[in-house]
Amino acid sequence: MSEDFLPINGTDYVEFYVGNAKQVAYYYQSAFGFQPLAYSGLETGNRERTSYVLVQDKIRFVFTTALIPDSVVADHVKEHGDGVKVIALWVDDAAKSWKETTSRGAKSYFEPYTKKDEHGEVVMAGIHTYGETVHIFVERKNYKGVFLPGYEKWEPEYRPGPTGLKYVDHMVGNLGWGEMNTWAKFYQDVMGFRQLISFDDKDISTEYTALMSKVMSNDNGRIKFPLNEPAKGRKMSQIEEYINFYRGAGVQHVAMATDDIIHTVRQLIKRGVEFLYVPSSYYDTVLDRVGHIDEELKALQELGILLDRDDEGYLLQVFTRPVEDRPTVFFEIIQRKGAKSFGKGNFKALFESIEREQERRGTL
Ligand code: FE2
Repeated sequence: MSEDFLPINGTDYVEFYVGNAKQVAYYYQSAFGFQPLAYSGLETGNRERTSYVLVQDKIRFVFTTALIPDSVVADHVKEHGDGVKVIALWVDDAAKSWKETTSRGAKSYFEPYTKKDEHGEVVMAGIHTYGETVHIFVERKNYKGVFLPGYEKWEPEYRPGPTGLKYVDHMVGNLGWGEMNTWAKFYQDVMGFRQLISFDDKDISTEYTALMSKVMSNDNGRIKFPLNEPAKGRKMSQIEEYINFYRGAGVQHVAMATDDIIHTVRQLIKRGVEFLYVPSSYYDTVLDRVGHIDEELKALQELGILLDRDDEGYLLQVFTRPVEDRPTVFFEIIQRKGAKSFGKGNFKALFESIEREQERRGTL
């Protein structure tokens, strides 16, 4: 086997461009239990934008807003609403990562550069991916500061506790008609990823709507990017609805892993996170399909947690409603008990639930 030309240690951070970062940060603290980490804004000498960095175990989210109208952040929010701009990847050599990918056809977002402060230095470089989304390579082995140079420790008094979220399991991209294979090829040829799974519209369809999906993974499996494309059905695919409201391709959902989904989801519901509705009939037959589980079915049913099994074990998962007013970005909470797949057995129940919501939005 050839050597991995783009070794990645994991997701470094996910940056959202939003309309009001102060209030968004409060939502992720209060609702999801993220902890305050770092801040950049007027007080730190940043006159153009403000960023709040929040952390929960290995998950780092950055929420950035524009302070001036003439700003790429403001432009992004005007076009897409609140959404994911950056999927940052933690690497040992950012300059090499940029060189290997741009030489294979990636479009540069910015060339490698070194940023320093009294805590050391970070090398960063960026490339474009689908839509207006970008990947930033972050090399931080010579840095001891709280996040990145330019950021200060953020220490508000308000600190609700964590909810048990551990790491980013996967991040899904929604692409336009006919774009899935183009971007699967991009991740294969330009980033050195391999295809784990492919679903066609026969796997993922209901009576009304359909989609197709390919799951791409990097060499060590720490980065997994399912890529969706709408497929023709009798009514509008949820992917098409996303594309219409996001006005192009973008991140559909971020899946966050927990070791105790019952505890995590109970906390999230208490704190106001809204989940997709699962009909109680789902639980009448689910164990016929999944077999023995360690959890009590009653608790799962009460919280609307879904189950699926593959050759290696089973998984528990649940999906939030979109977390902004446009029906775009949402979150998945997942607990893996051996299973490495993505819940294919739940697609139908899930999509019927999404269609019920599309119906209410008048977008089915
Ligand atoms: Fe997912």
